[in-house]
This record gives sequence, C-alpha cells and structure tokens, in this order.
Amino acid sequence: TKKIIIDCDPGVDDAIAIMLALSASEELELLGITTVAGNVALDHTTRNALGICNLLGRSDVGVYAGCSRPLMRTTGHRSIMHGAEGLGGVVLDTSGTPRDAHAIDFIIDTVMANPGQVTLCPIGPLTNVAMAIVKEPRLAANIDQIVFMGGAAFRPGNTTPAAEFNIYVDPHSAHIVATAGAPLVMFGLDVTNTVVATPGRLKTLQQLDNDAGRQAVAMISAYAKGDPCLHDPCVIAWLLRPELFTGIEAFLEIDSSPGINQGRTVACVGERHLAGTEPNCWIITGADCDGIFALLSDKFNKLT
Ligand code: BDR
Ligand code: CA
Repeated sequence: TKKIIIDCDPGVDDAIAIMLALSASEELELLGITTVAGNVALDHTTRNALGICNLLGRSDVGVYAGCSRPLMRTTGHRSIMHGAEGLGGVVLDTSGTPRDAHAIDFIIDTVMANPGQVTLCPIGPLTNVAMAIVKEPRLAANIDQIVFMGGAAFRPGNTTPAAEFNIYVDPHSAHIVATAGAPLVMFGLDVTNTVVATPGRLKTLQQLDNDAGRQAVAMISAYAKGDPCLHDPCVIAWLLRPELFTGIEAFLEIDSSPGINQGRTVACVGERHLAGTEPNCWIITGADCDGIFALLSDKFNKLT
C-alpha cells in the first residue's frame, strides 16, 4: 500500500477524493487528512473532513487543522461552488475533534518518520505544504511525490483568465512548493475540466445502494449545478489507476507577481523550451473519464 496524506479544503470534490481514498484502503494507506482555508473557511473545511470520515465509519483517521489564510493575503478568496458550508448543502455528522497537532507539524513528522515513502496529495491551496517545506528544510528531499490538483497549464483559469482557484488563492505558497525540488505531478484544469459529471455518469453513481454513495451523489448533484467537474478525485484516481491518464514532462513555474497573471502556472514543455532545463513536473493532460467514473462507482459500491 502507498502511504498518503490528503491536504484539502472540502469542498464537494475534495470530499469525493477523500471518499475514494478511504474506499481503496487495500491500495492506499491514508495516514491523515490536513485541512486548509480555501473553498470555505478553515473551521468548515476541518468539520467537513471530520464529517466525511464519520460518514465512512473511519473516525480513526486523524484530521489536522492547518492554515486559516494564505501567506500574503489576510483573508483568502472563497469559492461559491460548494455551498455556504462547503458540501453542497449536505449535512453530515461532524462530531469528533481534530487532532492536537497543527497540519504543518503532522506533515513534517509523518514524512520524516517515513523517509521517501509518503505521497502528499494537496487538493486545495498550497499553504500548509509550503509552510511545512519552509519549516523543515529536509522535507522536500524526503517526500516521495507531491501529486496536486491545481493550475491550468494549457487552458484558461477558472478564477481569473490566467489562474485556477487553488493556485490563485495562494500563489506564493504554490511558488514555494514548485521550487522545493520534490517531484511534482500536476492535475490542472487541462485534465480535470474534462472529468465532467454528465447526467449519464451521475446515473451510474445513483445506482449505489448505500448511505455513503447516496450522500456522494447528493453532494455532486448540488455542486454540478455550478461546476460539473470532479477535479480533486483525479489525484486519487491516478494513484489507483495511472493507466487512465496521460501526461507530459515539463518545467513548471508559478507567476506569483501582482497583476493579471497572478496565479498562472507556466509550463515549459517540448525540446525548444525545455532545452537545458531539468523537468520538475509531470503534467497530466488527458483522462479516460468513463474509466474514472467506473472506478468511483466500483469503489463506492463496497461502502456501507
Ligand atoms: C479546485 O478548486 C476548488 O473549488 C476545488 O475543490 C478544486 O480543488 C478546482 O479549481
Ligand atoms: Ca479542493
């Protein structure tokens, strides 16, 4: 099994990503969930993470609250896509409390205790991961891979014409992560915008005959009215079934400077631009979308 930490801002698609990871416990060992301010404020993302663990009967998975704002802005930009509380109006049992450790320390302690073995899966703004990298200079060299959802290398952003939401919210943290030296796998809008919950694909999920499945469908249906794309679950789907995806090697840089390009992910690809440059990122550009939905329904079918 692969050891992973999900760093997230649930968020409907974050919630589905967590559910997918927990439903694949034979392949993935979810060491903990760290939360960050993003789609909604930190107290909501943390409560929602607890709620998803409860929904799957996995209150044993530690939830660690992290940063309540981006590095440079005093408050973050929020998303309107996920409803006021973040789960598309679905109300879960959010009893339980986050663990005592801060997300940054949990990430550092866990990676350093398992050198080279932990895959970080950030699917929200990158504040926690950046702060962990800054606090522990040996961290980046000890991470197996950072497989993240964020950016848009070859298409427009979804928050500004240049920037995707997770990068736009905290571009400075994204810059720290991109330059840290850990191997990166990027799931930007290039691929995630194609992973659309069409009525046909939702119908397959609607056949799920368990409570967790029904809640997943309720969340996705509410969210799909604003954004029908399942961005964050792609990260987990790739860990489980990499053959469902295609990508390209690149040197990735983040534009964190103020102005119209703030939050843009700039990718050098191809011989002309990459000449003399060591690639730092594998950018995923294509997906078998029906395959991803088949994986979701296959895994969710086994839930209760
Ligand atoms: C990203 O932004 C958030 O709204 C989603 O959860 C996803 O992580 C997509 O741009
Ligand atoms: Ca997210």
